Amino acid sequence: MNNYDILNGVPDKRQEKNTTSLKFKKDLINFLGDKYKNKTCLEIGTHKGYTTRVLSTLFKKVITCETNTDYINFAEYLNKDRDNIEFLQKDVYNTSWDFEDIDVVFIDCNHEINYVIKDIENTIKLAKQNQELLIIFDDYGLQNPWEGVKEAISKVKQQNPRFEIIKFIGEHKGSDCNPRANLRDEEGVICSYTNRPLLPFFRIVDGKAYEVDKQLHLGFKKGDGLRIPDEYLEKKEFTIMRTCHGIGDWGIISAIPRLLKQKYPDCKVYIPSLKLLRKIFGEGYSGLDMWSEPTANYSVFNNNPYVDEFVDEVSGDIFHDHYRIYDRENIDTPLIKQILKFWQFSDKEMSDCQPEMYWSDEEKKLGDKIIKKYVDDNEYGCLLVSNRFGTQMGKHHQESFDKDKQVMTDVLKDNDVPYFYWSSKPLSETPFSFINGVFDMRHVDLRVQLYIKSKAKLNVANQCGTNHLIVRYSKSYESVRQYPLGMNFVEGVTYL
Ligand SMILES: C[S@@+](CC[C@H](N)C(=O)[O-])C[C@H]1O[C@@H](n2cnc3c(N)ncnc32)[C@H](O)[C@@H]1O
Repeated sequence: MNNYDILNGVPDKRQEKNTTSLKFKKDLINFLGDKYKNKTCLEIGTHKGYTTRVLSTLFKKVITCETNTDYINFAEYLNKDRDNIEFLQKDVYNTSWDFEDIDVVFIDCNHEINYVIKDIENTIKLAKQNQELLIIFDDYGLQNPWEGVKEAISKVKQQNPRFEIIKFIGEHKGSDCNPRANLRDEEGVICSYTNRPLLPFFRIVDGKAYEVDKQLHLGFKKGDGLRIPDEYLEKKEFTIMRTCHGIGDWGIISAIPRLLKQKYPDCKVYIPSLKLLRKIFGEGYSGLDMWSEPTANYSVFNNNPYVDEFVDEVSGDIFHDHYRIYDRENIDTPLIKQILKFWQFSDKEMSDCQPEMYWSDEEKKLGDKIIKKYVDDNEYGCLLVSNRFGTQMGKHHQESFDKDKQVMTDVLKDNDVPYFYWSSKPLSETPFSFINGVFDMRHVDLRVQLYIKSKAKLNVANQCGTNHLIVRYSKSYESVRQYPLGMNFVEGVTYL
């Protein structure tokens, strides 16, 4: 069936004012696509089942609620060829919403503000832990003599940072699709509610960190228009930093010094010293688990010709990684590009932003010597099995273990070369003792390890920062631990 075939015989709002417009229905088809084919949608307000019909092609199951039996009978007859719709005769304002496993809710019932708020409150209770629930509304822009859907959404949004507007759909403001009056705003809107903890947003001023807010997404929405201040750019004295401090975290921003010098040739680029990081984040700095690699920034930026200095003091704001522009409609934007967008880089200026490393001659000499000794001039690979292998939230997780083992084994078997390796426990205790392991890199300086990795034909690892640091130089495979990976990825890495 063509995507729009289901619309044959389905009226537009112009013919049937209670239903959604054909544009709304098409926008839904395009937005939801195949992504929800295994999921369940709850519709509040069936009417004659016209939008229900469309939803039934986009979801595994649709549950739809209506008080009026005539409408239910009509809708059932209209959809007699569909086998995945459950029609419920239900007064949604006077009965409990005892639904389970709902992924999307289409609210299209009583459009008066208090009823819509009630619909949203009931809907939010259905959200699954750590997941996003989509909430679709019709009649956002309806010209009411009273407060309606638009005001309800605005009120809920103000009070609940987990509730967000994602996209407007359907006919545009001013449209005559509703015979009663032209739309005062967009016809429909897709919102989301995410049932997960909020993130703290820090401002770092004069070497002190202040928590200013808690929100769902760090940074600013594409449309917010917030960018790094022009005056800051004009001064051409830049400090770059992360608020997570593992080697992979710093590695993600390692191309920024070069990119800044290319954009502002006579600028200065500073990296916070360990002393400054301790001052900002507290004396327990190196002891905190999340900051267990206190000198990772040196490992990444030492010898970088585009870094002027590691500094102990910075006055004014540091625009760290919380300052970013995230784009809800394009979750494929990696963190580095989100940060560079905030720094007013154009797409072209930021096109070459994979992590980069600058090794000293001594480091290269030592690395080359080790490579020569163990594999001569032959191709080799590097295997990294970190302590997060087969775990979730710091604990052994059988499903992750089986998956990490399987996907990494496949790559290793496909690439039968000698391997340099680093593993958090002896290689014989990992599932990879079958490799031709020629050298245990554990006792080699981290930067020299990275050099050896950069010269390898391939790098195989469970998801780990050290691995993505060398994707510019070597083919890099990583078994993903975190779902969803979201923007927490590095372009060029093959995620398994
Ligand atoms: C705007 S229409 C729904 C249109 C439909 N979603 C479509 O796109 O074709 C709203 C429907 O909600 C129903 N309704 C009103 N109050 C209700 C309630 N308390 N419980 C369930 N349904 C209700 C009305 O009978 C009406 O059919």
